[in-house]
Amino acid sequence: MDASSAGPLPGQDATHPDGQYGSAAKWFHWITVGLMAIALPTGFVIKFITGEADGAYKMGFYAIHESAGLTILITALARIAWKWRHPPPPHPADLPPLMRMAATATHHGLYALLILQPVLGFFATNAWGFPLQGQTAYLGLIHLPKFMETSEGLATALSWAHTIGAYLFVVLLAAHIGAVVFHNAIRKDGTLLRML
Ligand code: HEM
Repeated sequence: MDASSAGPLPGQDATHPDGQYGSAAKWFHWITVGLMAIALPTGFVIKFITGEADGAYKMGFYAIHESAGLTILITALARIAWKWRHPPPPHPADLPPLMRMAATATHHGLYALLILQPVLGFFATNAWGFPLQGQTAYLGLIHLPKFMETSEGLATALSWAHTIGAYLFVVLLAAHIGAVVFHNAIRKDGTLLRML
């Protein structure tokens, strides 16, 4: 993950003279991308695994989904703490105000979901009476305590919120990836290179 050799990119300041995100910011970003590439598809697929014969297989999907999701939460918290002390490079100076606002809103929305979505999933599993223990222990090793009593009403509400969060994620990720394509294919302003 190294900088482009084509000289400074638009959007520099004293701590980002080349316009690039710092290397820790890049690692946080791409680790999150990898984990999301696991959590999002496994989440959508689980409900289609049915039938008794597929029970163990389904538990495997739960285990992978929940561990990836919880790791996303830990990564996001660490990333926000790190970002607090290490602000990102500024937007390119010639970026129109509307695009700045759209970019900032999308980024804030994604950060909010990186925290909210795993929290909702985590408490939903607790409320259903299936905490991260046994076959779904965190990373297959760490058996987490149960944080609440089983409650079908709460579990249903949390699961609904988790589903809504999943679709919101899809919308914001489509906007985020669409913006990357727009910046690189149409504006040709090197935005993607700032994160590579
Ligand atoms: C950023 C992290 C996460 C993402 C992006 C994510 C995404 C998803 C998606 C897309 C679904 C399918 C929604 C639907 O079709 O109704 C889902 C379902 C689910 N998620 Fe997550 N999730 C995350 C974190 C977690 C965590 C941390 C847990 C638990 C510890 C969890 C537990 C569940 C459960 C139990 C389901 C229901 C699966 C089923 O039986 O259909 N998720 N998640």
